[in-house]
Amino acid sequence: MYKLFKPALSIILPACLLTISACNNSNTKSTTNMTDSLEAKIPPASAFQKTIDGKKTDLYILKNSKGMEVAITNFGGRVVSILVPDKNGKLTDVVEGFDSVEGYKNAPGPYYGAIIGRYGNRIAKGKFPLEGKEYSLFINNAPNTLHGGKVGFDSKVWDAKQIDSTTLELTYLSKDMEEGYPGNLQAKVVYTLTNDNGLKIDYTATTDKTTIVNLTNHTYFNLNGANGGTILNHKAQIFADTYTPIDPTSIPTGIIAPVKGTPFDFTQPAVIGSRINDKDEQLTNGKGYDHNFVLTKPSLDTPVATVVGDKSDIEMQIFTQEPGLQFYTGNFMKGDNAMKYGAKDNYRTAFAMETEHFPDSPNEPKFPSVVLKPGQVYKTTTEYKFSIAK
Ligand code: GLA
Repeated sequence: MYKLFKPALSIILPACLLTISACNNSNTKSTTNMTDSLEAKIPPASAFQKTIDGKKTDLYILKNSKGMEVAITNFGGRVVSILVPDKNGKLTDVVEGFDSVEGYKNAPGPYYGAIIGRYGNRIAKGKFPLEGKEYSLFINNAPNTLHGGKVGFDSKVWDAKQIDSTTLELTYLSKDMEEGYPGNLQAKVVYTLTNDNGLKIDYTATTDKTTIVNLTNHTYFNLNGANGGTILNHKAQIFADTYTPIDPTSIPTGIIAPVKGTPFDFTQPAVIGSRINDKDEQLTNGKGYDHNFVLTKPSLDTPVATVVGDKSDIEMQIFTQEPGLQFYTGNFMKGDNAMKYGAKDNYRTAFAMETEHFPDSPNEPKFPSVVLKPGQVYKTTTEYKFSIAK
């Protein structure tokens, strides 16, 4: 069960009263080369200014004092671009994504950049028990439900309020029984770009009936740049001594297994591709890495995982309060979609590190609970922080 939380009285500064409209970034100065031929730049806001399901979508730009920029659309709360300097100081867009809202709308399946809800990752056979009742969800990843169901939070238009140049607040009310989940769930996701090059994501939610909730973000990263080719030469370190092995339909077996002596041991930095083709039942079941790691010490002060781009030396540290981290190596990417910078979403050209509770927790009483009751506040923070590897 999630801990009770007493919301602190928010002090609303006069500056915050101004809702800053989405920046029209057509004049953005982010023109530094990411590779020899392509410049890292945020797509034009106009490509995101549409009406979807009767609600306005837009592109919101966050900028910090270090020149880092992040672009987020309120369609699915998707992180569209993260521009950070590489080892030569050149701005590099480390997010694989589309350059228009249509791109995201027409290809919801890979969940590029999205907020995932009401339940991140899979629920076995789309069924779960709660307070003596069984609930049924839409099977969108046969035989299971994945990432919320037919239309998850990734494809909803969120209400957006840009608080200031570094903070975007998104809210969404998921109605009672939407996608089969009980309770009106009021969800809030606040993206904050910090001055030490961190993208902080604060999630909160409340409900009026007992429900389940497991929110995450599904940004696809390539730390060599959005068109940077394979991620298999990136180096990753995950501070997890155990993980949750899966069956061939990617549902955890319920066992918490040690990583030691397996290709899942990332306790020391390891090249992502160095063991990905090993003969290993778990790698076969996941078609590569697509597993939940049980974080040894969830923390907002010490990283739970670190990844470094081999060409850029850009290092991404992940901090979270969540117990698990789904490490996904883009095993289902097929090059079907035309992405930013004229790139295709080719096989394993991006990875995701989704901080969350474990997949299928509602059916695994031994896993940390994802139950949220009326009067409680679901509250969790994750941060992705960028620097140059030492
Ligand atoms: C998660 C899942 C993967 C895949 C991706 C989206 O990471 O675990 O199996 O569905 O989302 O394609």
